[in-house]
Amino acid sequence: MNPATQISFAPFQGITGKVFRSIWTKQFSGVDEFYTPYFTSINHDSRLSPAKLAELKRISENNIKIVPQILSKDADEIIRFASILKNLGFDELNWNLGCPFPQVATKKRGSGMLPYPDMIDDILQQVLPSIDIRFSVKCRLGYHSPDEFNELISVFNRSNISQLIIHPRIGRQLYKGKADTDAFAAILPQLNMPVVYNGDINTPGDFEQLQQSFPALNSWMIGRGLLANPFLAAQIKGFDLPSDRPKHIRSFVEDLYIAYRKHMNDQLSAIGYMKEYWHYLSQSFDNPHKVLKKIIKTRSFDEYESAVADIFNEFEWQL
Ligand SMILES: Cc1cc2nc3c(=O)[nH]c(=O)nc-3n(C[C@H](O)[C@H](O)[C@H](O)COP(=O)(O)O)c2cc1C
Repeated sequence: MNPATQISFAPFQGITGKVFRSIWTKQFSGVDEFYTPYFTSINHDSRLSPAKLAELKRISENNIKIVPQILSKDADEIIRFASILKNLGFDELNWNLGCPFPQVATKKRGSGMLPYPDMIDDILQQVLPSIDIRFSVKCRLGYHSPDEFNELISVFNRSNISQLIIHPRIGRQLYKGKADTDAFAAILPQLNMPVVYNGDINTPGDFEQLQQSFPALNSWMIGRGLLANPFLAAQIKGFDLPSDRPKHIRSFVEDLYIAYRKHMNDQLSAIGYMKEYWHYLSQSFDNPHKVLKKIIKTRSFDEYESAVADIFNEFEWQL
């Protein structure tokens, strides 16, 4: 592994908020930055709602840098958010041009803006001279076709973005198929800013293969792989791992659950957050389907707690 390797935790709406970040960073290593799930609706009065402010309470979590993200097609809103973030002490804002979900993309937001390079150009030209924190972009290859990226290359190259995180799928694909590493290889040499690769790094082997294909890259973003296996970044970096990994995972899951209950004032929606997360974590047990089923059918705190106890008694953590 390249000693300069940087690993970012990808944003997941509904999962990687501040509660998750505060517990994760206490128990795992190998991640250098966390990107927040996207923010929207930054109102005109330049004051964030208490809920948004609470999400942005820390600029780093246990020494891991936090990078807020915005989903917007309004330059003024982006500028407003950057100014608020600057006052809160953040040094970077990330712009989401990757969200593939139709309810977002059909409104020319997220990856739905990628077929409109003039619109992206216009927003970048307005935003970059007007903010004084770094501005990075997270995008896909296009919405309808990877060919859309051809026009975006010059748009991104003439802007002053601090880095470009590329998830090499198109929006319409959602998460189907594979990340298109051939298309990524073709565009990489044409870009003049630091580039971060994101997509389908689920094992140390996946990472090694990509590192061999792109030896000049040293910055990577990992999402589902890290949700399923919180040790993945440390494994990639060759860090020491706890000897009893199932016990470590169990203690993480329990701490996360307690933190969500506290955050949600003991409302049952705390289990909803845990269920979202178990969709990914279950993948690392020997029978993901059964593990997830046990969690999904719980309807009370008691049921949830006994499902977790059963899972750690009956199923093997495989990594
Ligand atoms: C449920 C869900 C929520 C997501 N939320 C966000 C988000 O808020 N912002 C963002 O840029 N990407 C979001 N993503 C995309 C991931 O950050 C990441 O780019 C994607 O999963 C590909 O990386 P991976 O293959 O390492 O998981 C989300 C993905 C999923 C499945």
